[in-house]
Amino acid sequence: MKPRTMTALSHVLLRDMITKDDVIVDATMGNGNDTLFLSRIASSVYAFDIQKEALRKTRALLERHDVRNVELILDSHTNIIDHVKTFKGVIFNLGYLPGGDRNVTTVHDTTIQAIDRLLPNIESGFMLIVCYPGHEEGGLETEAIDKRLETLDPKKYQVTTIRHPYQPNDPPLIHLVIGKKKDGT
Ligand SMILES: C[S@@+](CC[C@H](N)C(=O)[O-])C[C@H]1O[C@@H](n2cnc3c(N)ncnc32)[C@H](O)[C@@H]1O
Repeated sequence: MKPRTMTALSHVLLRDMITKDDVIVDATMGNGNDTLFLSRIASSVYAFDIQKEALRKTRALLERHDVRNVELILDSHTNIIDHVKTFKGVIFNLGYLPGGDRNVTTVHDTTIQAIDRLLPNIESGFMLIVCYPGHEEGGLETEAIDKRLETLDPKKYQVTTIRHPYQPNDPPLIHLVIGKKKDGT
């Protein structure tokens, strides 16, 4: 059987949680693969990246698939709530743009800042984070996220972590944070 990548596993979880009524935020648009996936299962998607290259590639991908329910925003995920206030969930697929400049990667301090700003908005929704500890900044970021999630009030949030524990080279992992407040499904 084909081993499952963390991206594939993240899509299984997302498909379980998202309905056609939901507004979803993609906090790291990159090449647009997650954005395209989300556009097919959600009502609308707001996707963010700090690189014009990411917007260019994602726009081309969405046009090829005739997708019209996505807004692409050139801004940092630290500013998401300045653009969109109400959404069911947010996903972070961290790291650098595949095939792009590896020096432009997500970094631990702004990622934590973004997570902290978004947590109150997912009290009855979810946040899914795919972490890549296999490169230097990714290692720092993964550690910082772990420390932050550890401090969440378990009465308010449930955290689930999926790892490949026995694979070499610090493989990616997923954190899924679910807000336990009742008005979500
Ligand atoms: C691993 S890629 C995302 C992959 C993407 N979801 C896909 O399906 O192709 C990570 C992206 O995060 C972006 N990024 C880095 N810092 C950011 C920030 N502060 N705000 C938003 N995006 C950021 C990078 O430019 C890069 O395109």
